[in-house]
Amino acid sequence: MAIVSQISGSVADLAAGGRYLSTNPARTHEVVAEVDLGDAATFVAACRGARAAQPGWADVPAPVRGRAVGHVGRIVEANAEALARLVTAEVGKPYAEALGEVREIIDTCDFFLGEGRRLYGETVPSEMPDKQLFTFRNPVGVVAVVTAGNFPVAVPSWYLVPALLTGNTVVWKPAEYAAASALALYEMFVRAGLPSGVLQLVLADGEATQRGLAEALDAGLVDKVGFTGSTAVGAQIGELCGRHLQSPCLELGGKNPMVITPSAELDLAVEGALFSGFGTAGQRCTSLGTVIVHESRHDEFLARFSAAVEAAPVGDPTGNVLMGPLLDRKFADRFEDYLGWIAPHHTVSGSTGAGRITADRPRKGFVGDPDAGLFYHPTIVAGLRADDELFRSETFGPIVGVTTYAGLDEAIALANAPGYGLSSSIYTTDPADVFAFRRGIGAGMVSVNNSTSGAEAHLPFGGNGKSGNGSRQSGRWVLDQFTRWQAVNWDYSGRLQKAQMDVAELVADLDYRLPG
Ligand code: UN1
Repeated sequence: MAIVSQISGSVADLAAGGRYLSTNPARTHEVVAEVDLGDAATFVAACRGARAAQPGWADVPAPVRGRAVGHVGRIVEANAEALARLVTAEVGKPYAEALGEVREIIDTCDFFLGEGRRLYGETVPSEMPDKQLFTFRNPVGVVAVVTAGNFPVAVPSWYLVPALLTGNTVVWKPAEYAAASALALYEMFVRAGLPSGVLQLVLADGEATQRGLAEALDAGLVDKVGFTGSTAVGAQIGELCGRHLQSPCLELGGKNPMVITPSAELDLAVEGALFSGFGTAGQRCTSLGTVIVHESRHDEFLARFSAAVEAAPVGDPTGNVLMGPLLDRKFADRFEDYLGWIAPHHTVSGSTGAGRITADRPRKGFVGDPDAGLFYHPTIVAGLRADDELFRSETFGPIVGVTTYAGLDEAIALANAPGYGLSSSIYTTDPADVFAFRRGIGAGMVSVNNSTSGAEAHLPFGGNGKSGNGSRQSGRWVLDQFTRWQAVNWDYSGRLQKAQMDVAELVADLDYRLPG
């Protein structure tokens, strides 16, 4: 039985986009789910259904909506292992990391359960008597959310939870290659008591989604778009939304730098580089891109980092490994292109081979059968130059560049040079370095003596430049994405008091000066 879109709007054929097989990237012959894809009409119908359900959902008191979010958290918690196993099976994320991902949903629900009882507006004094000013947060309406599959359940929850909490209805289009994980999460949201139509799940490919989104925006059925994915698609979505005077919430790629200063504790830096470079097989938006290491520490760092990567367990993601396979075939294909950017002036280390791990190109200590899945050698490329493609562009996958610097200003300039601005990290024991880096770096997130990945779920998450349009997710900051401020003034004086004109003024002697 194939899984299908879950929408309340009506559409002739829920499978108009054809059949898609979501496979296990660690054992590509294993089908995790047969997926009946919808088409543009499915997307539009879902938006219509969400539009119809929205006023009723907004009428549910916010604390009650908050309780629903709390219930999602409890249901996810009760199913944490099963959901993590599914994530591991469908996108190849090592089980320990998949459990962490599930934890991130629970954290998000815990945070927003309380927000249902806050969702504060303000009372503000008026410049005139017998008049009161207020601010209220209103839901934006229908939110369309399109997410990637590298965090198939946690990142969607960053949109779904606050959007629903604030009284919006949501149309969610997950990555096809993570459809089973998405359906599992959808079921848990629905079981938390959401009324029909409040959350709609659309399974469709990227092209159908873009057409559906364009049509839904034209028809006035979408008020806000949330998108996590590539910079190129994010730019298209930004352009489309701009035509409707909307500003989407964009969470895009990164080329996240790690600066290692002369005073850094190298053991710590190596550990951080290992996790952020090769955890999730380097497929987080926050994954480490380039290590920018002071020239005095370069050789020692590279030797230790290479040894750590060589020794790291790679293979079957159900086991205790640092990294499993790539997410899906298309990511593996693209990763092959990135490997093609390695040039003769580079030095490659980190494994017993390069490219795909196979019986012929083995990785020492590989856990499981490499030929069964989309496994790649973890790759360190030293000797990067600022004009190398490998230095300038995001390389989603298990590859980390290394380059050197002489002065901190140069390190900051190198860190900013690719033009992304999601996450960043500095290893140092000198506070002056920390604050100079914090001030100079263009990234939305800065780690000090910590890796570039692993942001906590209640700080603002998001980037600048090619990483996003400045929108932020998570914590209270995301509320501004899913609500609009309404300013209310209430005059109970019984007469028209004109602002700026009928305002009393106290008389001041501004010429007064102290004697002497
Ligand atoms: C992503 O890759 O899109 O900060 C999200 C981290 C995780 C979330 C990553 N908490 O690495």
